[in-house]
Formats: sequence, C-alpha cells, structure tokens
Amino acid sequence: MKKLYLIGNFKMNMNLSELRPYLKSYKKVAKRAANSTGICVPYVYLDYVSRALKGSRAIYGVQDMYYQDHGAYTGEISPSMLQDYDTKLVIIGHSERRAMFGDTDEIVNKKLTTALKYGFTPILCFGETLEEREAGKVTAVIKKQLTKALAGLTKADGGKIFFAYEPIWAIGTGVVPTTEQLSKVVKQIRSIITKILDTTDDEIKLLYGGSLKPSNAKQILAINGVNGGLIGGACLKMEDFKSIIYENVE
Ligand code: PGA
Repeated sequence: MKKLYLIGNFKMNMNLSELRPYLKSYKKVAKRAANSTGICVPYVYLDYVSRALKGSRAIYGVQDMYYQDHGAYTGEISPSMLQDYDTKLVIIGHSERRAMFGDTDEIVNKKLTTALKYGFTPILCFGETLEEREAGKVTAVIKKQLTKALAGLTKADGGKIFFAYEPIWAIGTGVVPTTEQLSKVVKQIRSIITKILDTTDDEIKLLYGGSLKPSNAKQILAINGVNGGLIGGACLKMEDFKSIIYENVE
C-alpha cells in the first residue's frame, strides 16, 4: 500500500462555529487513517486549531507566511509568530497568491528559504495556466517556477518540502488532468527537481492539487510518482475529505 499525504487547504473559508464540529470529526478521522493528513487554516484560527489538535495525529499549518522575522510590514505574519503555535505546514506560492497578491518567483524563493530555515514543512505550489498548456509550454513553465523557487537550496532541503503540482486550470473548476497527462507531467517534475537539487527521486514528495474529490481521488492518487494531494473545496466537507483521507492505493 502506498502511504499518502492528504492536506486540506481551507483558503478563506470556515468560521469558528463551523470549525468546532469540523475539528471534532477530523481528529477521529485522522486517528483511524492509515495515511497522513493535515490542514492549512486561516491565521486567525491557528491558536484555536493548535489547541484542538493537540495530541492528534493530524498536523496543521497556514496558507502563506512573510519572509522577515519582524518589523514594519503591516498586515503580514512572520515565521516566528507561527512557531509560537507549533505550526508545521506552510503553503508557499499558491497560484491564488501569485495571481492576486503579487507573489513573484523571487518572493516565493525567499518565503520557501525562510520556511525551511525556521523548520517548517513548506508545501511549494506550482503549475501552468490553461493558456500555457495549450501553447505546449507546460515543461518550460514548471521548470522556470521550480528553478527560481529552489534557487540556493540543497539536496537536504528537498526532502523537507512537499511539492504540490497544481495546474491552475484544474483549481476549483471540477476539471482534472487525465491519467496520461498527469503521469507525463509527474515524471517531468520529478526529473526537473532531481536535477536542480541533485537529489534522488525517492526523496521527492509530490502532491497533486486541483479539484481533487472523492470521485477522482483513487485514480489520481494511484498514479506513479504522486504521493498525495492538496485539497481545497473538498476538504471543507468532512464527509468528502474523510473519503479522500481513507483512500488506499497500491
Ligand atoms: P481545489 O483547490 O481542490 O478547490 O481545486 C486546490 C488548491 O487550490 O489547493
């Protein structure tokens, strides 16, 4: 059986009254799961989540982070603040941050480097737009994103990162790549990372993200080289998330 990592990304969803019953069920789900699971929550709920998941098998974290430790950066959250809540996961370079909040490849590199320095497990997101796919630029786009994001990092860093391939056209759309498309790109991604970090294929933990749901999870997670998923919409409903977390593939 392949050991999977199933991480939920709440995005800007949930409030405290929804979170309370959610976490109660989630703890039970995580306890019975053969796979590993975690959730990335909005900053304001980090304290609450850290208490609620104390002693649980589920891990947790956030959806972004600034790369400075402290200072005059109005509205930002620093890595040392996150450490105060035993944060483990930090999503870096999500396409929504890149498209809407100005996270460039250079900023992604700074955030990734900082996250590793502070001992977090970064989830590095990358992936192409539909336009780029249709123009036959998938490999070139991914190679550029990964090369810039991983600049200055070492082989040892590679094993500490969750790489999350998230084709932008699949995020929140209900459309997912075919097995053939995904298998092909997964091989390319693994080879690109191996070359950049001078690492070995088995050191790489690669997640797939984009409209992952109970109905397509088995097929996607079974693909050779996919180690798990980053789940947006479907993680908000515990029944759906649970069914993905309990998925088992050869
Ligand atoms: P989705 O989002 O599952 O809602 O498509 C995934 C993500 O953006 O991480």
